[in-house]
Amino acid sequence: MANTPLIRINGITLYFDGGQTRALNGVDLTIQEGEFVAIVGPSGSGKSSILNVIGTLDTPTAGEIYFRDQAYSTIRDASLFRRENFGFIFQGFHLIPTLSALDNVIVPTIGCEGSSHKARAEALLNSLGLQDRLDHFPGKLAGGERQRVAIARSLINQPRVILADEPTGSLDSANAQQVLDLLAQVVREQGLTLIMVTHDASVSARADRIVHMRDGRVEHPLGAFA
Ligand SMILES: Nc1ncnc2c1ncn2[C@@H]1O[C@H](COP(=O)(O)OP(=O)(O)O)[C@@H](O)[C@H]1O
Ligand SMILES: [Mg+2]
Repeated sequence: MANTPLIRINGITLYFDGGQTRALNGVDLTIQEGEFVAIVGPSGSGKSSILNVIGTLDTPTAGEIYFRDQAYSTIRDASLFRRENFGFIFQGFHLIPTLSALDNVIVPTIGCEGSSHKARAEALLNSLGLQDRLDHFPGKLAGGERQRVAIARSLINQPRVILADEPTGSLDSANAQQVLDLLAQVVREQGLTLIMVTHDASVSARADRIVHMRDGRVEHPLGAFA
């Protein structure tokens, strides 16, 4: 792992309902290029919220985030920034039920330049062991297969960072293990940064670092600094 900060989160708060709900309450966190960070913590502690603000799906109430040297507050086109840098994987797969596996993987390339998206999507699905499933609709796929389609989709735009929110939460342990092995392999081969929310201790055990969240903050045990 290169020791280069990729994402620096400084004093982020995320309030809803005029401040009555404080999803994030002053988060400081630095994530290194190529790092696999597992985020753990009780339900409601802000785990999904921190992924959402990192991925520009939510705009913080206060604080600043830097991606390399770019401050989020200076980003003009958030959807372009998101597409260039981030791939998302969710617990519930979030596949489009009326599209084939192949078309689901191609969706994030809509509006992007280039013509090789289909070939890339096929290659990604092949590499994830889904060569026989390209034309299948999500309803005809097993849970582990759906999540592998979602992994392929997260990789289609060649992101630098994968943001995964409990990606194995709805899989049985054998399927979860297989999906994680594949994800870990891709991330390592391509030198990607992986930020994953998980409840599963066997998952967090594979991470370079475990970040504990509670009440919208990162816990720093024994008074350590971020
Ligand atoms: N869009 C929203 N509107 C209102 N409250 C929200 C919203 N998103 C999250 N919250 C609240 O913020 C807190 C943190 O949520 P979340 O980040 O989803 O926690 P976790 O993923 O750790 O379970 C919770 O109290 C949740 O109800
Ligand atoms: Mg969550």
